[in-house]
Amino acid sequence: MTKRTPVVAVANLKGGVGKSTTTLMLAEGLALQYGLNVLIFDFDAQANLSELLLTSEGVQRERNQDRGVAAILDTFVPGKNRSVEDLRIVVEQWNSCCIEELVRKKNRDSEEGWISLLAADPSMRFLEPFLERSPGQGWYDIGEELIWALEEATQFERSQADIILIDCPPHVSTLCRSALKMADYYVTPTLAETLSIWGLQQFTRWMTHTDQTPWFSKPGPSFNERQFVVCTRFSATSRSHQKALEDLKRDWSDRTFSSPIGARVSLNRELPRRTINSLHSFGSRYRGKLKSDVMTLADEFVGFIHSREPHISWSRSSTAGGLFN
Ligand SMILES: Nc1ncnc2c1ncn2[C@@H]1O[C@H](COP(=O)(O)OP(=O)(O)OP(=O)(O)O)[C@@H](O)[C@H]1O
Ligand SMILES: [Mg+2]
Repeated sequence: MTKRTPVVAVANLKGGVGKSTTTLMLAEGLALQYGLNVLIFDFDAQANLSELLLTSEGVQRERNQDRGVAAILDTFVPGKNRSVEDLRIVVEQWNSCCIEELVRKKNRDSEEGWISLLAADPSMRFLEPFLERSPGQGWYDIGEELIWALEEATQFERSQADIILIDCPPHVSTLCRSALKMADYYVTPTLAETLSIWGLQQFTRWMTHTDQTPWFSKPGPSFNERQFVVCTRFSATSRSHQKALEDLKRDWSDRTFSSPIGARVSLNRELPRRTINSLHSFGSRYRGKLKSDVMTLADEFVGFIHSREPHISWSRSSTAGGLFN
């Protein structure tokens, strides 16, 4: 039987709620705590996640070397005569999250616990309009074509991955719709405040609207049962945050909620890779409460997947303790 890799869209149509940050934290938690091979697709032309992992120089290098999402979108530009079959190796950058990973990456086929990335870059803004050439109902067709191209171009990487995480943009686009269509599960970051909660409600309403369902619907559990909500930038001392989260859990009792991720002032300094060749060590980047939040996020997400896919059994990596020190 061929291995089926769960695909998870980290999505919310509200901007700035922590989608890219949560994708990174979840990927690192799963790779380091559970030894999983995590493949990330960055579908946002802002390329925030790609920059965090690769630096902006690394993002430019991916583009120059014709790798990443833009190389796939290029095949949709009329007259370019590029075929997706020529793009066999799109994900070439194997990111090292810690020193041990860097040492082991030469031997990655026999080792566990790495993150690889299909990078985004700002040139996607000029390419995405070519995906919109069939307005209205036509996006069903172009969406299917895009999904085929993405799957075709990343065949090898997908066959090596235990899980695929897609960082979605905060707007509806063919790329975003395709991510939502490909996904088996949805991680939805939100803030514990009114506007974000409205955004969360709008996203859910949109996902379950009858206009969407012909394309999005899948056999099995409903959208609500596939959704894993993560409250980010949470302040445990804020009465309004606490109340908002309590209300949300009460009103949305059929969703799975992770424990909230605390707000951390120094995050913007801590998360990005410093230079293109610098090590990206988990242990030194995540400290204190944030580190335990990330580990808890990985544990709770694995519990969520296990409860829905009983044949999957991911266990804590025996080396993980050492990697976290
Ligand atoms: N736990 C946290 N503590 C402090 N700041 C955070 C936390 N999580 C995210 N942030 C900050 O919040 C801002 C928005 O986060 P992020 O870019 O991940 O959101 P997004 O939903 O991906 O945004 P967009 O919709 O633009 O793609 C960033 O500056 C990020 O550093
Ligand atoms: Mg983002």
